[in-house]
Amino acid sequence: MDNMNIFDEVYTLSNEVKIPKLGLGTWFIPDDQVAQAVCDAVKIGYRHIDTAQAYGNEHGVGEGIRTCGIPRSELFVTTKLAAEIKSYDEAVKAIDESIQKMGLDYIDLMLIHSPQPWDDFRGDDYFEGNREAWRALEDAYKASKLRSIGISNFKQEDIENILSSCTVKPMVNQLLVHVSNTPSDLIEYCQKNDILVEAYSPIAHGEILKNPEVASMAEKYHVTVPQLCIRYTLQLNTLPLPKTANPQHMEENAAVNFMISDEDMETLKNMKPIENYGEFSVFPVFSGK
Ligand SMILES: NC(=O)c1ccc[n+]([C@@H]2O[C@H](COP(=O)([O-])OP(=O)(O)OC[C@H]3O[C@@H](n4cnc5c(N)ncnc54)[C@H](OP(=O)(O)O)[C@@H]3O)[C@@H](O)[C@H]2O)c1
Repeated sequence: MDNMNIFDEVYTLSNEVKIPKLGLGTWFIPDDQVAQAVCDAVKIGYRHIDTAQAYGNEHGVGEGIRTCGIPRSELFVTTKLAAEIKSYDEAVKAIDESIQKMGLDYIDLMLIHSPQPWDDFRGDDYFEGNREAWRALEDAYKASKLRSIGISNFKQEDIENILSSCTVKPMVNQLLVHVSNTPSDLIEYCQKNDILVEAYSPIAHGEILKNPEVASMAEKYHVTVPQLCIRYTLQLNTLPLPKTANPQHMEENAAVNFMISDEDMETLKNMKPIENYGEFSVFPVFSGK
């Protein structure tokens, strides 16, 4: 434990692909700044970067991956199929566009961003559209354009829909998981089905930094709130994706070599949910649905 470095640690996906245990989130890092953020992160030791078609920064992320000086095979990059795409043909086209925009030969992981388009989040089920989008991901996976494939924001019924018809099972489900927001039943369902859960917004998009109870527990462990929050998601056997373009924060977020006690894990799990995410509450993922 003492000498353990998060950058040496991986999870193994159900198809045996190894995925670095800590990823860098890039939502809201502008396209013209994100290549620098990727290079800074890689210099610090990050090998896993998370982007999406919707972030408008795939070009910059790809540039960072291509120019950071580390062999492509040692890096892991994820992107996400836009939530609005629910047909096979559109999905095929969008997958190829991502690869082209990033200037890469392949992508390590591609996810369906959401079971519903954002303007109908948690509305209709879109079961057929998701099966069609999934079939496009499967075909790209079989053609070695994607090393692994998965989903995001999928609840149990959305996952069952895919499992009922797929030829390749999803390897990942990326979910909102942070101190005070822990969908334990869904995490357990995923893990039982060999689906790795990735924890997005592990610092609650910054909102948890305002919570005095979390701050006092962090003090007890002699760590910062982001470190406590990242460690929390790791101890749930999920994969944290903290976002920052600040190299000092990148370093801090990787210094998570400590253990939260079982009792404190329970306290963090049951902490009062965040009532609203301030100006970010307008985003469907923070709408509480
Ligand atoms: N699949 C989905 O639907 C979905 C939805 C949301 C997010 N995501 C993914 O998950 C990633 C992370 O989520 P997020 O961007 O919502 O938020 P987050 O990582 O929970 O929080 C980011 C906020 O925390 C701050 N921060 C980070 N490290 C810090 C540190 N050491 N000290 C102080 N402040 C720190 C950042 O500020 P600075 O930038 O100033 O450091 C930023 O304001 C996203 O970037 C994206 O890749 C996916």
